[in-house]
Amino acid sequence: MNAQPVNPRGQTIAGLLADLRSQFEASQVAQPETDARILVCDLMGISLTDLILDGDRVVDEGGAKRILAAAHRRCLGEPVHRILGHRWFYGIDLHLSPATLEPRPDTETLVEAALPLAREVVGKKAICKILDLGTGSGAIALAILAEIQAAVAVVSDISGDALDAARKNARLNGLQDRFSTCRSNWFEAIDGRFDLIVSNPPYIRSADIAALSREVKEHDPLLALDGGPDGLDAYRAIAEGASRHLAEGGMVLLETGFDQHEDVIKIFRDAAFSCLSQLKDIGGNDRVLVFGKAG
Ligand SMILES: C[S@@+](CC[C@H](N)C(=O)[O-])C[C@H]1O[C@@H](n2cnc3c(N)ncnc32)[C@H](O)[C@@H]1O
Repeated sequence: MNAQPVNPRGQTIAGLLADLRSQFEASQVAQPETDARILVCDLMGISLTDLILDGDRVVDEGGAKRILAAAHRRCLGEPVHRILGHRWFYGIDLHLSPATLEPRPDTETLVEAALPLAREVVGKKAICKILDLGTGSGAIALAILAEIQAAVAVVSDISGDALDAARKNARLNGLQDRFSTCRSNWFEAIDGRFDLIVSNPPYIRSADIAALSREVKEHDPLLALDGGPDGLDAYRAIAEGASRHLAEGGMVLLETGFDQHEDVIKIFRDAAFSCLSQLKDIGGNDRVLVFGKAG
């Protein structure tokens, strides 16, 4: 006897979407509508507009099977972009690996802050050298390279697997010629000086990790989250080494936790840096600091 077809009623796009939404609501997924739309659009290769205008289209059995399998994983707590294996970040598509943090929209604030500074450097020097510390998927450096043709980047991470993912992302986005990697514990193995040093380091207090959502603590690597007892270990290491690796007039741009600006500014002041600007993310939280050498 044949197995029961996955899509026996010839389910439509709108029907599948409604099905996913109710499965997600029942499983207490935080954003049932959004996640259902992302999964259906991505797995069918259609836009949000198609999703609305083509709601009556019948989904073939293979497509429905893939979508329902993905929905099952989402109900078990896997984040939607982990299921898809990639995520868009500032206009570039990034492959995700278990060794990389899933890049977040908050981090686009750091890219936004870096772009005008990088353009200014290119205006003066015809090139802008960028160092991205703790690069993960390569998100920050690759987003800048995609926008600024005259920028080159060295990216580093303590995780060799994260660097593999970053190299893959550079190739996928055609940016490999202006991109190189260096496995390093912050500045330890870094050579040379840079116009911009950028970093979104781990900044969660160790004791707060247990209280993070299941999506974060079970799917983002601990190495990407744990900032030590007070969440500030990485900032101390970066403040300590940055002067030796900044070009004349260079700047350091850092993502921080929403409640860390004051502490990070103090760490950098003690290392003879001045805070040049403080930026908030799209949710209105403190998120990015820009430093230059004092005096
Ligand atoms: C919060 S994640 C940021 C990833 C990526 N830059 C982003 O914004 O999506 C922090 C990254 O720092 C790396 N990291 C942790 N400790 C490190 C260390 N001691 N030296 C260098 N990188 C480190 C982690 O492996 C992780 O990729």
